[in-house]
Amino acid sequence: MHFIAIETSCDETSVALFRNNTIVSHYVYSQIEAHKKYCGVVPEIASREHSKKIYELISKLKIKKLDAVGFTKGPGLKGSLLVGKIAALTLSRYFKTKIIGVNHLEGHLLSTEIEGKRVIKKLKFPLIALIVSGGHTELWYVKDYGVYSLIGKTRDDACGEAFDKVARILGLGYPGGPKIEKIAEKSKFSNIKFTVPYIKNSFEYSFSGIKTQIAYYVKGLKSITVAQKSEIAAAFQKSVFESLINKLDEAVKKFGVCNIVVCGGVSVNSFLRERLMDRFGNTGINIFLPDKEYTSDNAAMIGVAVLRRLDKGKYKNNIQIDSSLKISGWI
Ligand code: KG4
Ligand code: ZN
Repeated sequence: MHFIAIETSCDETSVALFRNNTIVSHYVYSQIEAHKKYCGVVPEIASREHSKKIYELISKLKIKKLDAVGFTKGPGLKGSLLVGKIAALTLSRYFKTKIIGVNHLEGHLLSTEIEGKRVIKKLKFPLIALIVSGGHTELWYVKDYGVYSLIGKTRDDACGEAFDKVARILGLGYPGGPKIEKIAEKSKFSNIKFTVPYIKNSFEYSFSGIKTQIAYYVKGLKSITVAQKSEIAAAFQKSVFESLINKLDEAVKKFGVCNIVVCGGVSVNSFLRERLMDRFGNTGINIFLPDKEYTSDNAAMIGVAVLRRLDKGKYKNNIQIDSSLKISGWI
């Protein structure tokens, strides 16, 4: 069984060719350079970049035969999703294969099953998943492959978005996540403290308040040194991760699960990984994290979702793109 997966939901153009559960080839083209000067992703530029790059990447796969084609149908930027869909449709018509539309966030969840170039069935259910990316911060209760319920999400900024905005306030550049993590390393013991965002009686998050708190804090300084930036970044990370983990912990207790997944672009952060170990390491909870290579957007993770659907024989030709696609089961 040979299949291809295509990811074009935001600012990475990516394709992967699979033979059963093996990733034969995988390419990721990051558009960061094209968006850098705008300090964020510009949708029009993103779709243009995808259409410039997608043919070249697919050609590099040297496809000889295909049995299925998968692509990200949402959530994401409409024009960008459309480029992926057109490429997927073209391939599926040429090779006369089935075509499977995948939810991008489901891809992040299943990225935890990639080990090197292999996909291994290793998730244990039921589990609570925390998806932390540039566009989303969501908590899911996952009963099995394809059986998902959304239990909470952010009311305002996504966690990665807050990193990007705070990095901008501190003049660190784009994308903010890696810059904040790096500069914060120099201040493990920051004296500054920001509020830990917490919404009572709900599994919702909120990250716009802490961003505003930091904007005012920086405004109040006459000038800002690298050491101060480092302390602010460290204090910001500490509060945000505390907030993420507090709700995750509450969800684990409420739903009585002993398995958790933390995935998405922010999950690459080593300090977050450390904090997760501190909280859950000796509690008997299994923590599933993606290999760092597969935390940001990539087609391999979309391929895992395709593979799991093919395994269960559960897919239908529903390829309607939806930029605000919500999570739901497979059928
Ligand atoms: O999952 P992803 O690649 O794209 C979306 O689906 O949004 O996530 C990108 C987000 C960006 O906001 C970026 O700043 C954040 O992940 N990120 C990080 C780190 N590296 C990337 N956040 C915190 N620490 C990092 N090291
Ligand atoms: Zn993503």
